[in-house]
Amino acid sequence: MDKFYTPNHVASNMVKQVKNKKRDIIIADFAAGRGELLRIAEIKWPKSKLIATDINVSSIRFLQKQHPNWAIGRCDFLSDKSRRKCRPLVKFNNKINLILLNPPFSNKGGKLYQTSFKDLEIRSSQAMAFLLTSINFLDNGGELVAILPSGSFSSERDRMAWSLLDRYTSYKIINTYNHNTFDNCYPTTHLIYFRLLKNEKHFSKEKKLFPQSKPKTNGKYEIRVQRGRFSMYKYKSVAMKRGVTLIHSTNLQNQEVINLDKKIRVDKNIIISPTILIPRVGKPTKHKVVHYNNRVPIILSDCVFAVSCRNKKNLIKIEKYILSNWNKLSKLYSGTCAPFLTQNNLELFLSGINLKNSNI
Ligand SMILES: C[S@@+](CC[C@H](N)C(=O)[O-])C[C@H]1O[C@@H](n2cnc3c(N)ncnc32)[C@H](O)[C@@H]1O
Repeated sequence: MDKFYTPNHVASNMVKQVKNKKRDIIIADFAAGRGELLRIAEIKWPKSKLIATDINVSSIRFLQKQHPNWAIGRCDFLSDKSRRKCRPLVKFNNKINLILLNPPFSNKGGKLYQTSFKDLEIRSSQAMAFLLTSINFLDNGGELVAILPSGSFSSERDRMAWSLLDRYTSYKIINTYNHNTFDNCYPTTHLIYFRLLKNEKHFSKEKKLFPQSKPKTNGKYEIRVQRGRFSMYKYKSVAMKRGVTLIHSTNLQNQEVINLDKKIRVDKNIIISPTILIPRVGKPTKHKVVHYNNRVPIILSDCVFAVSCRNKKNLIKIEKYILSNWNKLSKLYSGTCAPFLTQNNLELFLSGINLKNSNI
């Protein structure tokens, strides 16, 4: 069982993210352990109602002794039956304003967990199942701050779950912690802030399940991420002197595109400048981020992303944001031999930009 408790500085950072200004809110942790997250929350909101559940009997005894005023219950949070029997959970279902979570995520053997979320049955990793189940307990507009393994973003197992989170919440990566932050052998983790949206975001039917292909919007400023689709091994069969210029990650150097000598016969996925090109695969380096402003239309290999925005001034801001937060973005590349960035992760990173702020 995962019992690596959250260090004080991380718990404080989690609490700091909360936007709710009310004094008497309902706060819960469903994998409470020794109650560190709730203890820090109680300092900030002394008038709040605190709900702590955990599967571990000795943790529950400890909590009952230390915090007699909290609503405490033993519960295997991933079991429907156990949740239905846990009194604090039944009483505060859909009423919780804030959830703080450092869920278990050892996930031995890559087991998949099934969760009911908004009338859908979703299979995911253990940490994600914990997160989705927790969100079911939030009131409309409720907030959740969680520590999650960074691998969850690129994991195929959690793809559907992230699609649903895209639809029902707004979320943002606040911080990344390396494996030294927690005791024992923890993976790299992200601190992520979620807010349950009052209304589901609307996408077309097809895009509902695969929002990876939707343009990411940031308020009224639309940022569009496109992943290149052309596989380089096909180059010889479609090479053409007067074709569309092909850009591969090897053409991105020193923030410029170089050696544009490949042209191919294509009629779709053509990109018109201006756009920002970012490598999708390979060792992440900001020298490969290129603001492409040439009028020549291009087609991208599957190792490159294009980030576009209708407003040219905003595109410059986006470029600045990418370069000045490169450290953060480079950590989202996963895999050791050939590190790669997922579209979901890139969109998530870009969701942190505030284009209305003229200082970026
Ligand atoms: C990483 S610790 C976090 C503890 C505490 N929230 C903190 O941040 O210090 C994870 C906790 O999840 C509990 N846990 C593991 N599986 C669980 C389950 N199925 N249901 C409820 N709690 C579980 C463990 O007992 C452990 O206390």
